[in-house]
Amino acid sequence: MRVLGIETSCDDTGVAVYDSDRGLLAHRLYSQIKLHEHYGGVVPELAARDHIRKLLPLLRAVLQEAQTGQQDIDGIAYTAGPGLVGALLVGASLGRSLAWAWDVPALGVHHMEGHLLAPMLESQSPEIPFIALLVSGGHTLLVDVTGLGRYRIMGESRDDAVGEAFDKAAKLLGLGYPGGPAIAAAAGAGDPRRFRFPRPMTDRPGLDFSFSGLKTFTRNTVMAQPLDPQTLADIAYAFQDAAVDTLVIKCRRALQQSGRDRLVVAGGVGANRVLRERLRAMVETMGARVFYPRPELCTDNAAMIAYVGYRRLCAGERESLQINVRARWSLASLQPVDGDA
Ligand code: KG4
Ligand code: ZN
Repeated sequence: MRVLGIETSCDDTGVAVYDSDRGLLAHRLYSQIKLHEHYGGVVPELAARDHIRKLLPLLRAVLQEAQTGQQDIDGIAYTAGPGLVGALLVGASLGRSLAWAWDVPALGVHHMEGHLLAPMLESQSPEIPFIALLVSGGHTLLVDVTGLGRYRIMGESRDDAVGEAFDKAAKLLGLGYPGGPAIAAAAGAGDPRRFRFPRPMTDRPGLDFSFSGLKTFTRNTVMAQPLDPQTLADIAYAFQDAAVDTLVIKCRRALQQSGRDRLVVAGGVGANRVLRERLRAMVETMGARVFYPRPELCTDNAAMIAYVGYRRLCAGERESLQINVRARWSLASLQPVDGDA
């Protein structure tokens, strides 16, 4: 089965073709970072308009690279939420329309289920069950995955998502957007001994997160002294150190509580090198294993959407011609796919 995937939930336009026998045939991404940089965050209306401009040329390029004609496509998957409604509607409208014209089924896919299953696209893919840490610009979730569509939320952020905290801290430091890579780069020159930031909510039981206090701590530290280049690097280091440590502590706790020995990390913050190194060291001490998608499949992409579409279409899921997208959508409300316990 060959599935076309379309991703337009936020500021990346993505198109991919996944083949059940041959794997990922092609995937491309057009990033709108340059468009939004000037505003320090994503402007929803500009994002939607740019998806309209970029989606069709990207589709043509990906089909050509995958040497795939319309007659080779067996189904279409597009991101139906959560995300920016205007942006989602662009991908959903194209996906539905193509499916109607090509007479194939189409499915609206949950963006976070895409991130969750992205490691399955790698040759060393994790077996179910596993614990997933989903860390993106909009979500911080610990999920117990016992089957396709069987997701129990063990912990989540009560305020800012960790990616959002990286973005806000970067803004306070006058670094560019998106903040994650900018903080990570600046932290490289930081002195580990200069500042120590708090690890929020790690001193009490439970798996929920809170990152807004870390942002306030960063703001206060920035205001307390002149922001010379070394101080900036030292603060970036301390922020990253605290954010990463907090995630590692909660992952260890989730593995202990569930008794699982596999941890999957996905979402944009999963591209963070320090997080990857420290999680690897932590799981080793527990006799567990950690799985990551390659960095380009950690951040938003259409390959993960095509893959989820393939799994669900394969299980016989179908939808009407109606175009439905959702700005908010709980991962725990998804339909389990039978036969995948
Ligand atoms: O999953 P994603 O690409 O988009 C969403 O669905 O949100 O995640 C984007 C988030 C942004 O907040 C960005 O700052 C963060 O992931 N990010 C990083 C890194 N690369 C991207 N955070 C920390 N370190 C990185 N290397
Ligand atoms: Zn995402």
